[in-house]
Amino acid sequence: MSSTPPDDHTLLLQADALLREEPNFIANAANLSALVYHELANVNWAGFYFCETDGLVLGPFAGRPACTRLPSGRGVCGAAVKSKHTVVVDDVKAFANHIVCDSASQSEIVIPLFHNGCVYGVFDVDSPVKARFTAADRASLEAIVHRFQELAPPPPWLA
Ligand code: SME
Repeated sequence: MSSTPPDDHTLLLQADALLREEPNFIANAANLSALVYHELANVNWAGFYFCETDGLVLGPFAGRPACTRLPSGRGVCGAAVKSKHTVVVDDVKAFANHIVCDSASQSEIVIPLFHNGCVYGVFDVDSPVKARFTAADRASLEAIVHRFQELAPPPPWLA
């Protein structure tokens, strides 16, 4: 993809163009992960985890292989599920509950996914740089995740 990171609006347009013709949730989840991983500077992992009764299970992602299962309430992902809000961690080593999947990761943003008012998973982005995710990045990623959720509802086995 491009060598210059896109601005927030361009990234949203790219996501919309990539996802809008496709109603398959898994296909869109895979492509959204790849888009964020390749288009944002200083990102070493981008992908989904989905809720199961005892925690989160790995979904489509781009980057190195990651932890397959995250126990309930643990990690930055667990915190986002519990709080039902985006969680931004500037220094993962200072976050007591952080789950290390890749020791290169230094900062992280986790955005919860909702269906009918219930959290059914998260979109997680990691960076090898501390404090990588600014308020503008947060707004941009939340807008992209919102668009993703508008375009394709989760399959019944995830919701
Ligand atoms: N660091 C996450 C675990 C998932 S990986 O970053 C891909 C957490 O603390 O929940």
